[in-house]
Amino acid sequence: MTKEVNYAVIGMSGMGRAHVEGIKSDNRANLVAVCDIDETRRDQGAALVKGARAYSDYRDVLACDDVDVVVIVVPDQLHREISVAALAAGKHVLCEKPMALTLEDCKAMIEASRRSDRKFMVGQICRFTPGFIAAKELIEKGEIGELFYVESEYAHDYSKIFGSNQWRLDPLRHGFLGGGCHAVDLLRWIAGNPYEVAAFSNKKMLTSWPTDDCTIAIMKFPNDVIGKVFVSTGCKRNYTMRSAFYGSKGTIITDNTSPNMQVFKTDSSCGFTVPMLYPISINNHNTIGEISVFTDCIVNDAPVPTDAYEGACTVAAALAAVRSSKSGKIESIDYSFT
Ligand SMILES: NC(=O)c1ccc[n+]([C@@H]2O[C@H](COP(=O)([O-])OP(=O)(O)OC[C@H]3O[C@@H](n4cnc5c(N)ncnc54)[C@H](O)[C@@H]3O)[C@@H](O)[C@H]2O)c1
Repeated sequence: MTKEVNYAVIGMSGMGRAHVEGIKSDNRANLVAVCDIDETRRDQGAALVKGARAYSDYRDVLACDDVDVVVIVVPDQLHREISVAALAAGKHVLCEKPMALTLEDCKAMIEASRRSDRKFMVGQICRFTPGFIAAKELIEKGEIGELFYVESEYAHDYSKIFGSNQWRLDPLRHGFLGGGCHAVDLLRWIAGNPYEVAAFSNKKMLTSWPTDDCTIAIMKFPNDVIGKVFVSTGCKRNYTMRSAFYGSKGTIITDNTSPNMQVFKTDSSCGFTVPMLYPISINNHNTIGEISVFTDCIVNDAPVPTDAYEGACTVAAALAAVRSSKSGKIESIDYSFT
């Protein structure tokens, strides 16, 4: 079959290699180039696909006529620069989350995306996680009735993160934004844009890091739904995003690292609320699903699920929570980006 979409991946860490797996799994996609400033990583990356070329400077990738799409998997601080340059060079862009670390950067990326006729998608990978997709489908079918409370968490021990990760120590890269954006985006996807947030935080685990490592944020969502996001980047447990959705007829408890989703519903015959377990495949970095959807959008000229505005909304909500944890006040969340 003729390949329709030629990809390049910029940033060849474990996540970059996961994107290569996604591209290899899509029979409409072809990996033609990889890029990394680290020689070993770029050579190892290029070796993953026969014929893929290796570059050290992303600008050389953008100059390649045979590259249709770039996947940006570099430190968050570089997302704006490379995304804006790639769109200006006529490339479609799949940019890793969080879209950026500041609203100023997000606005520049929204502008660049509006100026371009290419697709721009933020890789909010939880929207491709089986447990979360199943929960959203049940909620949309009305299986748990009217939502009244939603919660999600991002629990990930960053003390174990190694490699070239010094960029995570940037004071702008608060854990609530860097990793917590997954949980914020999940709740936005399920319950809409929160408009107010009150947050508390502390720092008892990663004491040498510049930002607090534990935050809880209480949010108000449309339709009188309330919710909570808990983020810990120093906790002593395995990575997970335990999430719960409470409705008038039932409750769903699910996450991205368990083989089952729990659904509690009232049995109309006996009046008791009974738990049911649904098997769920564990796939917390479903780059195969993500690349497949992005290729679909390019091939069919369809809107992407998380465009620049959508990516910026998640950043805005996360930054408002960080602001509240510092100000001690309820902060409103502005999505106008003007
Ligand atoms: N979706 C997810 O669940 C998920 C998981 C992990 C990381 N991420 C995101 O992916 C991105 C990368 O994170 P990571 O953990 O892989 O980081 P990392 O530091 O492990 O890897 C980044 C790679 O980018 C390379 N790089 C740095 N500057 C470069 C440049 N100018 N040009 C080309 N290559 C450059 C580095 O050499 C390194 O190989 C971040 O935005 C991060 O937030 C997302």
